[in-house]
Amino acid sequence: MNTKNIVVIEGDGIGPDIVAESIKVLRKIEEISDIKFNFSYYEAGGIAIDKYGNPLPKETLDACKKADAVILGAVGGPKWDDLEGNKRPEKALLGLRGGLGLFANLRPAILHRQLKDACPLKEKIIGDSLDIMIVRELTSGIYFGKRGRNVADKSAYDTMYYNEEEIERILRVGFDISLSRDKKVCVVDKANILESSRLWREVTKRVAKDYSDVEYTFLYVDNAAMQLVRNPKQFDVIITSNMFGDILSDEASMLTGSIGMLPSASIGGNNALYEPIHGSAPDIAGQDKANPIATILSMAMMLRHSFGMEKEAQKVEKAVDRALTEGYRTGDIFSKGMKLVGTKEMGNIIANYIK
Ligand code: IPM
Ligand code: MG
Repeated sequence: MNTKNIVVIEGDGIGPDIVAESIKVLRKIEEISDIKFNFSYYEAGGIAIDKYGNPLPKETLDACKKADAVILGAVGGPKWDDLEGNKRPEKALLGLRGGLGLFANLRPAILHRQLKDACPLKEKIIGDSLDIMIVRELTSGIYFGKRGRNVADKSAYDTMYYNEEEIERILRVGFDISLSRDKKVCVVDKANILESSRLWREVTKRVAKDYSDVEYTFLYVDNAAMQLVRNPKQFDVIITSNMFGDILSDEASMLTGSIGMLPSASIGGNNALYEPIHGSAPDIAGQDKANPIATILSMAMMLRHSFGMEKEAQKVEKAVDRALTEGYRTGDIFSKGMKLVGTKEMGNIIANYIK
């Protein structure tokens, strides 16, 4: 029996709701394969602040370091919004990403043809489908650069820092991924203004020499934001910095019908972390309303990237596809004539379709 130790961090808001459904799906995978999952639950985010005064207790980080993979729901909520930067729930995410060395964040934006009606773009723009892979740098840039306040002149600053090594390794992840796709990379930056972006361009030109089959382009982030709406089909793999990737992946998620559809994998360390890209949606927490699909699709990414279980990953993705084809929808992706279901029912339906 092949056992995988998985740390589960439910987090805040809808975190526990959606994570529960992803566990259902993994239990189903146990039934149809020879893998066994050992889940240990740990706390991070607002709930950890309330209990221990620390968004990322050492115990949690240590457990994550030892795990074969980490599943995370979501962190944050209005209750903790007035805390100082270092004590906010979001600090848990940064601590996990940095602490585990997860420098590459893969955010596939895939529009399922069944959700065409939930996509806000006209059919002549979006056609039948969309499949973009956003590769976001995750452990450097303005998220991790020097920041602070100057009392004397009442100012505050954040620094966008990148060194060549950090840029090169994220570029290589993106270029490698493009080899199994359309071999088209777009590096998004703000090289007309930012020195760090100009370094990104230099490193890209050097790295690209190792990928002669891959066609690459550069785009300024403001233009990229516009192009994603004007003509999203021009993109295959987008590689970008931490903050630009944060912003563009939310924008791209809307093209897939709902932010509740987008999974993510954070890789690059000894293990990897899987989480939906959406937040904790405290307004619908515990109400059986959240869409569990992003988290369930993150499990497919886990099976594929962490455990080499391509066949099982596809079974999860096919089960999601079938649930959509049969017309099951949570509120965020609902349209007329479809069947409205809650978080749990959606999870049950998808788990049942895994054969
Ligand atoms: C994300 C989120 C996080 C980020 C927040 C919650 C810290 O928006 O994963 O996209 O900015 O990275
Ligand atoms: Mg974000």
